[in-house]
This record gives sequence, C-alpha cells and structure tokens, in this order.
Amino acid sequence: MVRAIYPGSFDPPTNGHQDIIKRASEIFDQLTVAVLENPRKDALFSHEERAEMLEKICAPYDNVEVDYFRGLLIEYANRKDARIIIKGLRAMSDFEFEFQMALVNRKLDSRIETVFMMTNSKYSYLSSSIVKEIASFGGDIRPLVPPKIYEIIIKKVPQQ
Ligand code: PNS
Repeated sequence: MVRAIYPGSFDPPTNGHQDIIKRASEIFDQLTVAVLENPRKDALFSHEERAEMLEKICAPYDNVEVDYFRGLLIEYANRKDARIIIKGLRAMSDFEFEFQMALVNRKLDSRIETVFMMTNSKYSYLSSSIVKEIASFGGDIRPLVPPKIYEIIIKKVPQQ
C-alpha cells in the first residue's frame, strides 16, 4: 500500500489544490492532506479552519484524510509511514524553491520521494494569496475556489 502526503499551508485551499487532491487520490492508495500548523507563519485562517475547509473538499474521496503537522515535514511523513510527498507545480517560478526543498528532504531521509504534479493549466495563475487579494477588494472568487468553502472564505477575508 502506498501512502502519500500532500502538505501545504492551504490558506485558503483553492481549485488548484482540489485538482491535485483529486488526481493524487486516483494514483495513490492513501492520501493525507497535511496542513502546516506553523505559529510563526502569518496565516489568515487558523489551522483548524483550513482543515475544516479541506475536510469538505476531501469528503468525496474515500482514501483521503486531512491532518495537521508542525515541525519537519520529513519527520511527519515518517510518523505517518508515508513514502511519497506530493507537491503541485504551477510554473517555473515554483520549481527552484520546490527543487531545493525536495533535495533537502531527500538529504534528511532518502527513503522518502518527492513527486511533483503539474497543475492543470487552467489553474496555473491561481494561488491562495491571489484568492485573498481578489476577495479583499470585493472581487468575485467563485471561479477560483470550491463552492463548498466559498462562504467560509468570504466571511473571513477582511475588506479593504
Ligand atoms: O503551501 P506551502 O506554503 O507552499 O507549503 C509549504 C510546506 C508546508 C510544504 C513547507 O513549508 C514545509 O514542508 N514546512 C515544514 C518544515 C520543513 O520540513 N521544511 C523543509 C526542510 S527545511
């Protein structure tokens, strides 16, 4: 059985994240979507709120669970007995940092493999920051986020 972890900030989740979750759930036996619980990082949504949104998104997939982690991803992956870390890539600009992270993680534990999944091209421009920016100016984020979490996002993003 191959267990994979899809880690991230998910502040908030977007259609791009949902697309990776769906595709990864079709490839791996078990998928854990893991929210970074990082007290130093300036997240708009608490890790509980981010996990709640992800639970709604992941509900249709029987082999997907949502969890939190803090500290090193590689240690969390070991605790979960996962051999695969999934990362989504949108553009070359993502690549350099993700490549470095993958090599650092391999140095920390060479048994765990990072697998990159290319974003669906229709979401290549999309990020959590873009969603927050558009929502903060009253723009319509409905095409950018799963309908199940639209209201939660709108209620939380401060208006400028
Ligand atoms: O959605 P993001 O913000 O791009 O996700 C980044 C994340 C959570 C995958 C990354 O920050 C991470 O793995 N953090 C845990 C700390 C860690 O293990 N860092 C890598 C070795 S220095």
